[in-house]
Amino acid sequence: MKSTENNLICTCLLLLASSLLVQACAEQVEAPTAYETPVAELMGQGEAMVENLCVSCHAIKSNDLSVHPDAPALRDLSKRMNLEELRTPMMEGMIVDHPDMPEWAFEPHHVDALLYYLSSIQSDQSDRQ
Ligand code: HEC
Repeated sequence: MKSTENNLICTCLLLLASSLLVQACAEQVEAPTAYETPVAELMGQGEAMVENLCVSCHAIKSNDLSVHPDAPALRDLSKRMNLEELRTPMMEGMIVDHPDMPEWAFEPHHVDALLYYLSSIQSDQSDRQ
C-alpha cells in the first residue's frame, strides 16, 4: 500500500517535471521572435529616416511634391525598379550616382526600416512586399 502511494507521487512529480521541461523548451524556441522589431516600429523608423534624410529633395508621402526638380517621388520608385535592388547599395553607400544626392551606408536594420516604409507608400502597389 505504502509503496503504491509512493509510486503514485513519483509518477506525479515526473509528469510535473516533464511538463515544466516541455514548457521551458517551448519558451526557448519562441524567445528569439520576441526580439524581432515589430512591424509598427520598423514603419516608424523608416518614416523618421525619410523625414530626416530624404525630404529635402524627394517627395516622401503619397501625395506630396519633390523639392528637388530631378528627384523622383519616393512613392514612384517601384515603377522604375524593384525596391529589393536597393538593399545592397543602401548598405554599401551608393544609392545613385548623382552629384546632388548624398551617399549613406546604412545598417542592415535601418535598410529594413527604410525599405519597409518605402514599400508601404508605393503608388504601384503590385510591388508591395
Ligand atoms: C540632396 C538631395 C537628395 C537627397 C537628400 C536624397 N536624394 Fe535621392 N535622389 C536625388 C536626385 C536629384 C535623384 C535623381 C538622380 C538621377 O535621376 O540622376 C535621386 C534619386 C534617387 C533614387 C534613384 C531613383 C532612380 O530611378 O534611379 C533613389 C532610390 C533615391 N534617390 C533614394 C533616396 C533616399 C532613400 C533618400 C533618403 C535616405 C534620398 N534619396 C535622399 C536627390 C536626393
